This record gives sequence, structure tokens and C-alpha cells, in this order.
Amino acid sequence: MSTTTRATEYAARFSGLTAVVTGAGSGIGLATARMLIEDGGRVIAVDISQPRLDEAAALIGPSYIPVAADITAEAGPQLIAEAAGGPIDILINNAGIMDGFLPITELDDATWHKVLNVNLTGQMRLVRQFLPAMLEAGHGAIVNISSEAALRICAGVAYTVSKHGVIGLTKHVAAMYGPQGIRSNAIAPGGVKTNVGGEFLSQLAAARLGPIMAATSPGMAEPEWLARAICFLADDHAASHINGIVLAVDGGWSVM
Ligand SMILES: NC(=O)c1ccc[n+]([C@@H]2O[C@H](COP(=O)([O-])OP(=O)(O)OC[C@H]3O[C@@H](n4cnc5c(N)ncnc54)[C@H](O)[C@@H]3O)[C@@H](O)[C@H]2O)c1
Repeated sequence: MSTTTRATEYAARFSGLTAVVTGAGSGIGLATARMLIEDGGRVIAVDISQPRLDEAAALIGPSYIPVAADITAEAGPQLIAEAAGGPIDILINNAGIMDGFLPITELDDATWHKVLNVNLTGQMRLVRQFLPAMLEAGHGAIVNISSEAALRICAGVAYTVSKHGVIGLTKHVAAMYGPQGIRSNAIAPGGVKTNVGGEFLSQLAAARLGPIMAATSPGMAEPEWLARAICFLADDHAASHINGIVLAVDGGWSVM
């Protein structure tokens, strides 16, 4: 689609709306923040990395409101809510980290807790922070970023469990609050060209998973391809009757 056509079709779909995007300093979160803003929205851009936020803010402009925060910190959700300065319309729970593909025999407690804290508990705490005001407003779109690792084994055990957990969180919120105007959906990206880091820290995992992944993966996506799907689910018009789904955005990897 040409830029002009896209601009005409989508230019105002998020106008007047505020979104919180976590991990908005890099990769999928950055591309999503940019698209939400291009299409009229205002983004509370959360990241643990101040330099990444500063760089993006300088490029994107005043609708990208940078908030340096660790979503796992006790005060993280409250700090983000204060920066938003009121109810939000859209929550993109995107910040996440990898686990070096460690299988359970090589897993230490610190890695388990860190990965579960960022990838799953962090998402739960932000939903809990923002849901009451969404319920009061009678609408809200939540998009949680899960992973192909919730559909097939292509990461370590901590990451795999965290991303399966994201699907449970997504579906539970959808079931409980759908009738009150909340849509809660998840995206399962395949491989995407970002800074997340996909190094094997386990020889067992490299030997067992490496060849299978190489044979089945359709290749790496651009972050913008994910942003389009995330913005679709965030859009109350386009995705008005979509609630509780897991949308694989993986070039068909999950059917291989
Ligand atoms: N890249 C892939 O191949 C891929 C595949 C499937 C799922 N995902 C998921 O997509 C999401 C986005 O990842 P990405 O690939 O764009 O990675 P990325 O590393 O490029 O971006 C993630 C951002 O999250 C930030 N972040 C990390 N921990 C944080 C914390 N505690 N608090 C606040 N911010 C924090 C990082 O600073 C970084 O800027 C993650 O949830 C990841 O698991 C990525």
C-alpha cells in the first residue's frame, strides 16, 4: 500500500487517544509507538533505557512522551500512571527479555525470576494499574506481546513459561471484563529484527532447537510488520469484536 493511501485510511484512527507502550525505546515497541503517533495518538513511551528514549523522542516529537521506568520496580506502574496524567485508552504490554535458551537443567533461580518478572509479572501489574480507569471509561484495548515460544518450543524454559503465562493473563482479562468494554488480546511474534538478543547460552538447546528452528522459520520480520498487527488489535473500530485471541504474526512459522 502506498504511503498516501495508508495515510488517508488510517490518519485519524488513534486521534485523541492515549496509549502506554512499554519497551518503547527499541524494536517492536518503538515501531508501535511510532505508528500509534503517525495515526493520531499520544504515547506514554516507557523503557528502562533513558538513552534509547532520548534518541527516539528527538526523532519522533512531542507526542512521544518518554518515561524512564523499570516495569518490575515496586513503584513502576504508579510512576507510569502519573506520567500518563489520567486514564489511558490503550495499553501495549511489550517490554520483554530473552533467557539464552536455557533448559531446566541449566537454569538458575535468578534468570527464572528475572525473566518471569519482566515478561509476565510486569504485564500483570500494568494491566492491574490501568484497568480500573478503563472500566470506569467503559472502554480499553490491551495488547500483550507473547511469542512464538508460546506456540512451539523455540526459547529457554523461563521465556517459554513467561510467554505461555501472557496468554493466560490475556484470556483471563478478556473473559472477566469483555462485557464491560475491555478488549484484551495477545500477539505472538516469530523472529523479529530487534535488540532482544537471540544467542544460545546452552549447547544442548543449540543442538536440539537450532536445526529445527533454522529449518522451519520463514525468516526475520521487520518491527513495523509487528506494529501493524498490534495497532490493528489496539484499534477499537477495526478490531471491535476481537477479544481474547492470540494472533501469530510469524509468517506462518506456527504451521510448519
Ligand atoms: N524480537 C523477536 O524475535 C521477538 C519474538 C517474539 C517475541 N518478542 C517479544 O517482543 C517484545 C519486544 O521485544 P523486542 O524484540 O522489540 O526487543 P528489544 O530488546 O529491541 O526491545 C525491548 C525493550 O524493552 C526494554 N525493557 C527491558 N526490560 C525492561 C523493564 N524491566 N522495564 C522497562 N523496559 C524494559 C528494553 O530496554 C528494550 O528497549 C518482547 O516482549 C519480546 O519477548 C520478540
